Amino acid sequence: MDEVTVRVRDLAKRFGEVHAVQGVSFEVHAGECFGLLGPNGAGKSTTLKMLTTLLPRDGGTIEIAGVPLTGDVTRVRARIGYVPQMLSVDGSLTGYENLLIFAKLYGLRRGERERRIADILELVGLGEAADRLVKTYSGGMIRKLEIGQAILHQPRVLFLDEPTVGLDPVARKGVWEHIERLQQEQNMTILLTTHYMEEAESLCTRIAIMSRGRIAAVGTPAELRAQMGNPDASMDDVFAHFAGSFEHEEGGMKHVFRSRRTARRMG
Ligand SMILES: Nc1ncnc2c1ncn2[C@@H]1O[C@H](COP(=O)(O)OP(=O)(O)O)[C@@H](O)[C@H]1O
Ligand SMILES: [Mg+2]
Repeated sequence: MDEVTVRVRDLAKRFGEVHAVQGVSFEVHAGECFGLLGPNGAGKSTTLKMLTTLLPRDGGTIEIAGVPLTGDVTRVRARIGYVPQMLSVDGSLTGYENLLIFAKLYGLRRGERERRIADILELVGLGEAADRLVKTYSGGMIRKLEIGQAILHQPRVLFLDEPTVGLDPVARKGVWEHIERLQQEQNMTILLTTHYMEEAESLCTRIAIMSRGRIAAVGTPAELRAQMGNPDASMDDVFAHFAGSFEHEEGGMKHVFRSRRTARRMG
């Protein structure tokens, strides 16, 4: 458990006047599920995009599975999977076809491709739906397909950006179960972002609470309660204590509704 799989030091990113990420440092251990919890606008997606090589950083260092993220990003890319916040599947193709595109993208050989796609369909519970067009899938099924796409090449680390936003409670539980299985059965290291307190508490070994581009606190849920001096605090209390109240953050519900519409567009 002590091997460090993701090491982030003094990470920084600015968009004009907006300091989206300012001096973020944390470590994720092998086999751990680590949660970046924070309100909309906190800098979670920006952090994830830098970790997944999609966005250049302005400062700081990143190391993933022992590989420093420098000029040559391909070695890091081979070791990671990423499920973005926004839709990453094509509704006009079947589930199988969506997986096939990613399998080719990852350079899996023909024989290996078919085997791996079959395994993934089984793993994410979409075997029966594999030949249906994705536009007939529910939001939960789409999320599972996106997770399947991201792990075709058997990455060491899986990054998930708001994996259950816009899903109903039943679908959310289904996605949680799959994330837990990936962690426990495949021994995958997982880093996810969420603004749902109960999601972070249910899935994550340790949580970093992010607010306005900084990490306000890191620890297990019990450690966070202890840090705030109230062992009986609810996760809502912990969150409000470290991140401030939701309502005062930009984005807020508007953002949630927008994400929901995206999820429903296909459902
Ligand atoms: N491409 C961009 N251009 C300008 N500002 C951005 C861009 N991406 C994010 N931001 C800003 O950076 C801040 C953090 O955004 P983000 O990382 O998406 O937060 P979160 O994922 O926690 O909701 C916000 O103020 C957001 O408006
Ligand atoms: Mg985000």
